[in-house]
Amino acid sequence: MADKDKIYIFDTTMRDGEQSPGASMSVEEKIQISRVFDDMGIDIIEAGFPITSPGDFEAVSAISKGLKNSIPCGLARAKKKDIDACYESLKHAKRFRIHTFISTSPVHMKHKLNMSDEQVVDAVKESVTYAKKFTDDVEWSCEDGTRTTLDFMCKTIELAINCGAKTINIPDTVGYSIPEEFAKTITHIKNNVPNIDKAIISAHCHNDLGLAVANALAGLSAGVRQIECTINGIGERAGNAALEEIVMAIKTRNDLMPYDTGIKTELISKASKMVSNATGFPVQFNKAIVGKNAFAHESGIHQDGMLKNRETYEIMSPESVGVKQTSLVMGKHSGRHAFKDKLNDLGYTDVTDDVIQEAFGKFKVLADKKKHIYDEDIIALVDDSLIVDNKINAINLKSLKVYAGTGEPQKAEMTLDVFGDIKHTVQTGDGPVDATFKCIKELYNHDVKLLLYQVHAVTEGTDAQATVSVKIEENDRTTVGQSADTDTLVASARAYLNALNKMLIKREKKSLSENIEHQKVKGGV
Ligand code: KIV
Ligand code: ZN
Repeated sequence: MADKDKIYIFDTTMRDGEQSPGASMSVEEKIQISRVFDDMGIDIIEAGFPITSPGDFEAVSAISKGLKNSIPCGLARAKKKDIDACYESLKHAKRFRIHTFISTSPVHMKHKLNMSDEQVVDAVKESVTYAKKFTDDVEWSCEDGTRTTLDFMCKTIELAINCGAKTINIPDTVGYSIPEEFAKTITHIKNNVPNIDKAIISAHCHNDLGLAVANALAGLSAGVRQIECTINGIGERAGNAALEEIVMAIKTRNDLMPYDTGIKTELISKASKMVSNATGFPVQFNKAIVGKNAFAHESGIHQDGMLKNRETYEIMSPESVGVKQTSLVMGKHSGRHAFKDKLNDLGYTDVTDDVIQEAFGKFKVLADKKKHIYDEDIIALVDDSLIVDNKINAINLKSLKVYAGTGEPQKAEMTLDVFGDIKHTVQTGDGPVDATFKCIKELYNHDVKLLLYQVHAVTEGTDAQATVSVKIEENDRTTVGQSADTDTLVASARAYLNALNKMLIKREKKSLSENIEHQKVKGGV
């Protein structure tokens, strides 16, 4: 490994990824995800864009304090107040990176910035020099790089390096480039920027033409040594290059790409699930590496080949990305100790005793109801308990009975604990889920918009647990709630309540943070 070039993995799931319409994550969720990223060996974690909102500021600050190995990073436009916000949010970290950017393409300079070439050059000089006062680790990006004239790009890169930038990021902001062209751009930079050896070249590729990963990998052969990517490929519009695809492509085709990312690939599946849960964005079944079907072999010929030798149809093992073969785990007689060992095997190494106790209680209940319990069932239980552990349950489900079927209007009867008051109601609705949600509205009067209601079976069979995700919106704030149960309606009620409880916390935080002075910048990059 020692003689292989190191490729730095820069994750921007919590910044660019969160810019996917509707993909917001709470600060608590970001902290939990950042711990897994840290354990995975991600080199740099872009935790947010601190000037944009108090929530982003708080997330960057909280994440940066907790990282053991990864370098926290914040994004800033070429403005002093953005860079100040970055510094304020990162200053408690042992070391940190400030990532500052400005558009350099003619179309962006004219229509978005309304700035001349000279003004952009001045802004590059000023912003990089200013960021450098706070840290030695400054990254500079020429936004819309792939639609920038090569001469102007080289001029601004040379200047940014002279002002102290150590990483130069080339964004394909609108996902316009194709692999050969992207590689040529990097080669041109290598050959025409005299001080380029003083910086690491980075690729930040968007997926509008489905070429983000291909472009980033093409960049490697031309000299890129940092790749910016996101888990599950989430990000603006069609998303960013997917981290799991980049890392596994390098690992699997190390014969042609002899590089080392240092990523513990066994944590990929866990990270993917956490990001999907936090954002409420499902992973498409056939998604490379992390899709449900990525390691499934359906046809008889393939299954036959696999049984004879896995290499016939498998270029990497599911275990190498942390996907355990769905296995029968334990029965209702299994003890707490075996349950804890199982959690360890599944990658839950740092969960508290309270969470284990809570999940174990649910496991016993499930074992009574369900014949076969699979790893995925246990994962759903423990994830559910982790949410409870965040102490965000002011409103709790006590009981639910639903009457469904043909003919009669569907009816739900519910008892809730609302801040300690036990309340009961019966409501009819347009279907059992509607009746269930109406009960919650009746028992706790609130006005939120339901943005997403989604059910997926965790394992196969009619006795499978269902994981329900619910996303709600109130005054531009969104929360995602989740729950798993063999009863889809119970899971639905709990998921809705989970989202609602999180919304109550957001409301509380909002009123606190109104005292903090922050300038809100609308829109993303
Ligand atoms: O896509 C883009 O250009 C960006 C930059 C801020 C790096 O996200
Ligand atoms: Zn981007």
